[in-house]
Amino acid sequence: MTQVAVTGGAGFIGSNLVAKLVSKGHSVTVVDDLSTGMISNIDTKVCDFQHLSLVDAFALKKALSKAEVIFHLGARGSVPRSLKNPVATHDVNATGTLNVLEAARETGAHVFFSSSSSVYGRNGALPKDESMWLGPMTPYAASKLAAEGYVQAYGSAYAVPVTLLRFFNVFGPKQRPDHEYAAVLPKWIWKAMHNEPIEVFGDGTQTRDFTYIKTVLDICTDGMDRKVTHDGAINLAYGNRISLNTTIELLKKHFPDLQVKYVETRAGDVKDSQNSPGLLKSLFPDIVPTDFENALSETVEWLREFGETVAHGPTVSD
Ligand SMILES: NC(=O)c1ccc[n+]([C@@H]2O[C@H](COP(=O)([O-])OP(=O)(O)OC[C@H]3O[C@@H](n4cnc5c(N)ncnc54)[C@H](O)[C@@H]3O)[C@@H](O)[C@H]2O)c1
Repeated sequence: MTQVAVTGGAGFIGSNLVAKLVSKGHSVTVVDDLSTGMISNIDTKVCDFQHLSLVDAFALKKALSKAEVIFHLGARGSVPRSLKNPVATHDVNATGTLNVLEAARETGAHVFFSSSSSVYGRNGALPKDESMWLGPMTPYAASKLAAEGYVQAYGSAYAVPVTLLRFFNVFGPKQRPDHEYAAVLPKWIWKAMHNEPIEVFGDGTQTRDFTYIKTVLDICTDGMDRKVTHDGAINLAYGNRISLNTTIELLKKHFPDLQVKYVETRAGDVKDSQNSPGLLKSLFPDIVPTDFENALSETVEWLREFGETVAHGPTVSD
């Protein structure tokens, strides 16, 4: 049994990870301010829930004091949200990460950090590999890159064991479908379930390397079990380049009457995204990713059965 802390553990990825860690017999502390996450996502009888903000360095250090492993997933997500309030995004995502690292510097905990493919931004080359130049286009991406810098610096300067993962469009059960900044797949499925038209920003030819939540969890727990560390960033996606229009065709298998409305491109959105998974596969050779069409079907089924449990979370509009 390992003492594990999960920041952002009441959110989409975090709460799925907490459930998996608990089921594997680990002792889990969840740190979350419930700004986008929901307490109903976690079973507080089987984990220690600490309701606090990453910007409260003192309280955070105390909450993380026993952790041998920290999955740092807490963040102010969403690109449009960062465009509205860049300073708040920096405070949580960059300074909050520094606060996590300060806690780990004292304890020697292994820190897994969730960065984002958005750090590539203006670099349009495809597929992306970790040696390419980075060009954040939004405050969200800049805050993640700043945090990446601190993660690497603490690895080098203080020998904190670190694993820096860049997530690409993760989706699956427990992802909130209904707020202003909801991710595209749960938002579309939710609209389709309620017979409302889905909105596509642009012409739908933009592509994404969607990653199913189960694959992300497998990487996280495998990395923890084998103590995988790495000096630089690791892109977490398997190189599937799927256009939004193809995704719509797949959704029509579940919702034959799906109505689609094409609207203007949204500021800050990257046109194409695809990873070159060489490094990921070499570091995590045993992980087999879930195929996109099956993952999409599982997500549709989950939202049909349990969507109401994540549909009425805190308002996210600032
Ligand atoms: N979902 C994706 O496709 C994706 C892609 C790239 C990177 N990421 C990163 O992965 C991580 C998890 O993302 P998610 O999709 O689960 O998002 P999420 O919004 O569901 O989870 C983030 C959690 O962090 C919490 N949080 C926010 N600000 C906080 C603060 N100041 N103090 C403590 N807790 C705070 C929220 O309440 C929420 O529970 C984030 O760091 C995100 O930037 C996600």
